Amino acid sequence: MPGWKVVYDQWKPEQQPLREALCTLGNGYVATRGAFEEASADESINYPGTYLAGGYNRLVTQIAGQEIENEDLVNWPNWLPLKYRHPGEKWFHTSLVELLSFRQELDMHQGVLERIIRYRDEAGRESDLHTRRLVSMANKHVVALAWELTPLNWSGPIEISAALDGRTTNSGVARYRALNGKHLTPLAQGQHNNETIYLQVETVQSGMRMAQAARTHIFTAPDTGQPERVLNQEDGFVEQLISVNCTSGQTLRVEKVVQIHTSRDHAITETLQEARKNIDRQGSFSHLLGKHAMAWERLWNRCDLQLECNDKAQSVLRLHIFHLLQTVSANTVGLDVGVPARGLHGEAYRGHIFWDELFIFPFLNLRLPELTRELLFYRYRRMREARYAASQAGYKGSMFPWQSGSNGREESQVIHLNPQSGRWLPDNTYLQRHISAAIAYNVWQYYQANQDMAFMTYMGGEMMFDIAQFWSTISKFNPERQRYEIHNVVGPDEYHTDYPGSDEIGLNNNAYTNVMAVWVIQTALKLIEILDDSRVNELFQKLDITKADVLRWEDIASKMYIPFLENTSIIAQFEGYGQLQEFPWQEYQVKYGETMRLDRILESEGDNVNKYKASKQADVLMLFYLFSSEKLVQIFQTLDYDFKPENIPENIDYYQQRTSHGSTLSKIVHSWVLARSDRKRAWHNFEVALVSDVEDVQGGTTPEGIHLGAMAGTVDLVQRGFTGLEIRDDVLWLNPALPDEINCLNFQIRYRSHWISLHLTHQKIRITFDRGWSKEVQIGVLGKVYTFQTGEQREFDISQ
Ligand code: BGC
Repeated sequence: MPGWKVVYDQWKPEQQPLREALCTLGNGYVATRGAFEEASADESINYPGTYLAGGYNRLVTQIAGQEIENEDLVNWPNWLPLKYRHPGEKWFHTSLVELLSFRQELDMHQGVLERIIRYRDEAGRESDLHTRRLVSMANKHVVALAWELTPLNWSGPIEISAALDGRTTNSGVARYRALNGKHLTPLAQGQHNNETIYLQVETVQSGMRMAQAARTHIFTAPDTGQPERVLNQEDGFVEQLISVNCTSGQTLRVEKVVQIHTSRDHAITETLQEARKNIDRQGSFSHLLGKHAMAWERLWNRCDLQLECNDKAQSVLRLHIFHLLQTVSANTVGLDVGVPARGLHGEAYRGHIFWDELFIFPFLNLRLPELTRELLFYRYRRMREARYAASQAGYKGSMFPWQSGSNGREESQVIHLNPQSGRWLPDNTYLQRHISAAIAYNVWQYYQANQDMAFMTYMGGEMMFDIAQFWSTISKFNPERQRYEIHNVVGPDEYHTDYPGSDEIGLNNNAYTNVMAVWVIQTALKLIEILDDSRVNELFQKLDITKADVLRWEDIASKMYIPFLENTSIIAQFEGYGQLQEFPWQEYQVKYGETMRLDRILESEGDNVNKYKASKQADVLMLFYLFSSEKLVQIFQTLDYDFKPENIPENIDYYQQRTSHGSTLSKIVHSWVLARSDRKRAWHNFEVALVSDVEDVQGGTTPEGIHLGAMAGTVDLVQRGFTGLEIRDDVLWLNPALPDEINCLNFQIRYRSHWISLHLTHQKIRITFDRGWSKEVQIGVLGKVYTFQTGEQREFDISQ
């Protein structure tokens, strides 16, 4: 099936870390990198990793003269190991044989990773090895392997090792290796029955347990009897050594099915007992595959996006949807987890949760809103910590952490290693207070798409009000300007964390932050009107919000300061930006290309990126990404600034020339904001964003985990950016600007309880109201509003 597979037809060891990340299989509960079954972790090629949604642990390390604590998404026991050897010889390994053919396929339609290789070993024996793997979407506790060995020119005995390896550490990211990475302590291992072994481990600090039970079935000819098995174990490791006879030309089939339980699971007694009990109830690989493939089919029915473009764009977009659904799925519901920026695919950023949700939720909102709701609950449950953080910093309300993990404490690292210079440096990016605005924005977007009043009346409203309260208390009135200001923050552009030569950290009046603060406060004021008075009173009482507070909100909503570059309509990224030096872009772009980590490069050269008009990623431009020009102009008008839609292109142009795209999120925003004014450049940016991970454009970051924000962001660019899909004033608006490269686009969305199919070409839009369970819905096409009811289909000519 074209467009559904990622295929590698050559073995390239140097690419293996990237392939492992891209071939990760997951189900929203657990995920395992696409490492080979016979591989164990080494310095640079193989890194098996199994990660659990919400599976965190903290460790302390002495580094650069400081004691620092880091919370990591733990690399749990490796359930993959399955390998063989000829008696007295080394275990099979790709590096020890001559590969005659190689093919690895990721089948996104079924969620299966497959490898088919033919090889010759040192003794001249030729064999075929065919492996398939799944991480069940149908039963989140089950993962399975089918392994088939066909001797082509030899016969004789072999020994198979089927193991569970809990001696894993977190060592997948080279620049973290100086930090303590031993999170697991072994609890138990052994044999459950003739075919099944088990292992149980616990995290050393968070006390989370995981048990795995692995059943290995060998398919032998009926008259050959059961193969002989020997148990081998040490603390944290258990294996069965199975002796089998192979016959030339006959395929030996082995299936390894593993049951996984953790102490965070619902409806269990104890992890090991559950794993041992439930493994006995599992069927064969093909039975599991059937159920698993059906679960994927159901997901694809809702989530696929078909475009007539080049094959690459289609399959890469599917890969992005695939990895998003592997990170969060129906299996995530009830787990109390957030969505890690790097998926469950590697150890970069330690599995922390950032503002990347902003780029991820729009896809879920319009298809699986139950998931957005669930992920917003993760934030809601951490309000206590956010309220404490605000109070510690001298504010009120909820101040969410820039990096979040288990309990909502700030998890940003205190110091970080610049791999380019080898120096450990202070990391002040935690001052990105705009994260709290992103959470409020996500609450509001979810509500807009689903009109979930129950949510909004309770958790949603509580978060909106408390975040508004935070923004109001971090804003300080400047009597000279007669305006409110926000000081000592960092904007989305993480390069700028202080003023050159200043002892203070943070910047003043980051335009993005200030506008977002105003938007949050204005929206909270609107919400007071929407919710019934008694509920508003209840919430205000609970949150200690007074009438005086609301009066202050109203004042800030019309008097926030927004910096502009002198005598221009260019919004200044922050106050003082205009005084920074211009950066010699050409010189560096020739050397490092279009996307680069200037902060690291300059620090290693003894310079400091803070000195320059050089951004890591979209900062001011985020405003044009999140708001329509109408909305933004309205915000500026309320603030009494003369900012017009005509000023937007000059702002885009200005920052476009001063951005190094050191984050994969940057190109998404740049493509989006150009979608209407410059389709060629928009498409170029889209293409770069599209290959961020498949081609690892940041040079070595994808092997450490995919960039979920960029993945979901590219899909959202197609679904909302290029179609002009926007929810405004209770109308779902469509105003397409399809790039020339896309001829035709088909997808489904769920909007306010209706499933709607959309078919777009350059000439027409066809809207079909498939299924739904609520009243009619208003859809606006090119400025005119139409009422749609279930079963209706209409076509609009958009060729003029
Ligand atoms: C970006 C942030 C992003 C984080 C996680 C950083 O490189 O600058 O905006 O949230 O990566 O994806």
